[in-house]
Amino acid sequence: MDIPNSDIIEAWNTILFDKFVRFRHLLVDGLSQHSDAALERLPYPQGARVLDIGCGFGDSTQRIAQRVGPSGAAIGVDCAENFIRAAEQDAREHGVDNAQFLVRDAQWDDLQGPYDHAFSRFGTMFFDLPGAAMRNIRKALKPGGTFTQIVWRQREDNPWLHEAELRVKEIVPVVSHEESGQVHCGPGPFSMAGADTVSAMLRVAGFERIAFERFDCDICIGRDLDDAVAFAMALGPAGEIIRLAGDEGTARTQEVIAALEETLAPYLRSDGVWAPSSTWFVSAVQPG
Ligand SMILES: C[S@@+](CC[C@H](N)C(=O)[O-])C[C@H]1O[C@@H](n2cnc3c(N)ncnc32)[C@H](O)[C@@H]1O
Repeated sequence: MDIPNSDIIEAWNTILFDKFVRFRHLLVDGLSQHSDAALERLPYPQGARVLDIGCGFGDSTQRIAQRVGPSGAAIGVDCAENFIRAAEQDAREHGVDNAQFLVRDAQWDDLQGPYDHAFSRFGTMFFDLPGAAMRNIRKALKPGGTFTQIVWRQREDNPWLHEAELRVKEIVPVVSHEESGQVHCGPGPFSMAGADTVSAMLRVAGFERIAFERFDCDICIGRDLDDAVAFAMALGPAGEIIRLAGDEGTARTQEVIAALEETLAPYLRSDGVWAPSSTWFVSAVQPG
């Protein structure tokens, strides 16, 4: 069968997985500030069965597993097998026995419900059919079950991604993934930034009691300026522009490095490079 999002899955399983491994020190530590704050607000009780969507390395899944205790379980699903294997290994190494991991496409695979709750940290912004995914996630929940997702808010409040993107666009020609013929990440980090669009999507998918909480914090985007520039050149919209431009992107590497050093230098502190970031905690309830 021809799977419509097979090139997105391939991207997450290959090129993006490799980049996530390279910058795991920033992605896991930096992004956990947002999930720590969200999980503080979520009273997942002992014994609950919780689904973690687009779990990546599964660090959130492990946190949830610890919260629900040995009588509960946290099940991380991800479309990319390499992330699932890495998540299984990490949970084993940390001795977290009640975290399980499954290779599943959130859009249409059986997610092995029913669950008491579902959670996702930055795992829902790359679906090419987000409405189908929301419906599938709702169907995996018990009546009264909650779905909480953390998604990036608008670009302008996430200068660590947006300023790098604008700067790179001045230097590197923008090539669409269709033109480049390369695999790609899917809609992208800001695809769920619009609260009205996302709430309409959740409502059509059958969710009720939809609510948004804005959460802002500075995140570490590099141990030093070189690390921050390398991170921006590898991941996020700037990194995708450079990759999709192929040889034209490579040819401008030195110019891009100089420009990004200038763009990111104002965020340098004695303990690394820290920039403002902004997310929505989006919550919704499966009415049953
Ligand atoms: C930005 S990463 C977030 C990973 C992790 N939740 C974190 O916060 O570090 C997005 C994740 O969503 C996964 N993903 C993308 N499309 C998916 C789909 N259709 N079904 C399940 N997972 C998907 C990717 O493989 C990737 O691991």
